[in-house]
Amino acid sequence: MRVQLALNVKDLDRAVDFYSKLFGVAVNKRKPGYANFAIDRPPLKLVLFENPDAVERLNHLGVEVFQDVDVREATDRLKAAGMADAVEDEQTCCYATQNKVWSVEPEGLRWEWYRVIEDAETFRGTVPSGTSPGTRHGTNPADGGNDQAGSCGCDATLMRRSHDPDEVREKVREGYTRVAEAAGGSNAAAAAEVGRRIGYSEEQLEATPEGANLGVGCGNPTAIDSLRPGETVVDLGSGAGMDAFLAARQVGPTGRVIGVDMTDAMLVKARENARKAGVLNVEFKKGRIEELPLEDESVDVIISNCVVNLSPEKDRVYREAFRVLKPGGRLMVSDIVLERPLPDAVVDSIDAYIGCVGGASLRSEYLETIAKAGFSEVRVDREADFGSVFDAADPRVQEVIARLRVSAAEAMSYAEAVKSLHVFARK
Ligand SMILES: C[S@@+](CC[C@H](N)C(=O)[O-])C[C@H]1O[C@@H](n2cnc3c(N)ncnc32)[C@H](O)[C@@H]1O
Repeated sequence: MRVQLALNVKDLDRAVDFYSKLFGVAVNKRKPGYANFAIDRPPLKLVLFENPDAVERLNHLGVEVFQDVDVREATDRLKAAGMADAVEDEQTCCYATQNKVWSVEPEGLRWEWYRVIEDAETFRGTVPSGTSPGTRHGTNPADGGNDQAGSCGCDATLMRRSHDPDEVREKVREGYTRVAEAAGGSNAAAAAEVGRRIGYSEEQLEATPEGANLGVGCGNPTAIDSLRPGETVVDLGSGAGMDAFLAARQVGPTGRVIGVDMTDAMLVKARENARKAGVLNVEFKKGRIEELPLEDESVDVIISNCVVNLSPEKDRVYREAFRVLKPGGRLMVSDIVLERPLPDAVVDSIDAYIGCVGGASLRSEYLETIAKAGFSEVRVDREADFGSVFDAADPRVQEVIARLRVSAAEAMSYAEAVKSLHVFARK
């Protein structure tokens, strides 16, 4: 057996060159964004992930063993100690199919005890069929053709690992194109149910133009109630327009709402919804929230519902929000964050259930990003955890619990680590 050290590096070529010289060995495996060294003296498996945006240099630690019996022994020991975080059988990760057990130390560092069964051509395999319900809070907007890990079509692994923001955005766009195309029909009733569960009132749901609620928000938009007549409001990632339309009602004919979204299919839906409902004080602009198509200091309020977690460049998003807000302007967003780091396999499973957790940051990092962009009064007004929508009796949840080999209580503790926050900040 040998200890494994997995590092995040900014420049893979430079790191490979350095470590081959440091240990006097050639690289063992080299793939796009990934390399490993199998070193005999000292016994070490050194793994390098090209991850330029990573805050931590240490990705995780591990012990590589060469027989399944050793993985089983470690699994039993860690389970007996209540420390087995997730067990993975024949999962593809890092260009190899592996059996492993994960443990997370009290300060969040991840350890794996693993055996490589065989090499693989892909960095990671897909979630086994049947475990990816394509369901977000109970809706199924992407039915028919969504082979990604999550109803939104986001690939949790890609969102975690890719260091190419454009690649991540492209995947997100593809996912939401499918969501937009699957909207309506039987999904409309499910979307209304999601709306109720996350806090929209019956009155708000009724006031929303048909087709605008896709059931893809993650928070109760209390922000909307605080909007005043005459204000200019921007909705980041406006989707089919749900919150933009509710905001338009609040700001009235003297106010104005601008929805910004990068997905054409969403913009088509939102504009059609506005036309059909005859809403005149709302417009939908194509653009990235990292590069807003808006003038400096032109906006009173920024709202957003379950969008910034999808951005691979959250710092840019909040800097842009700061730029376009007038002095004293308010930022009021609902978003998903993680309370603590979760094992990848768990994130993938939660992602498959509610979608788009793969890009979520830790709560502390998220709030810090907003403050660093220049905002003051940064506070969490309300929060809810995914535990509140977690249903241990749901067969899909049971399947995931069985696959991860965790107890329902452990699964619940993971679910509770996924939070939906309502954040307020002021420029
Ligand atoms: C989860 S949906 C939320 C839609 C809407 N806020 C709602 O609650 O119904 C995310 C939306 O954000 C958009 N989006 C995601 N990342 C974006 C980015 N970087 N720039 C612009 N739009 C983005 C997607 O196209 C999608 O319409």
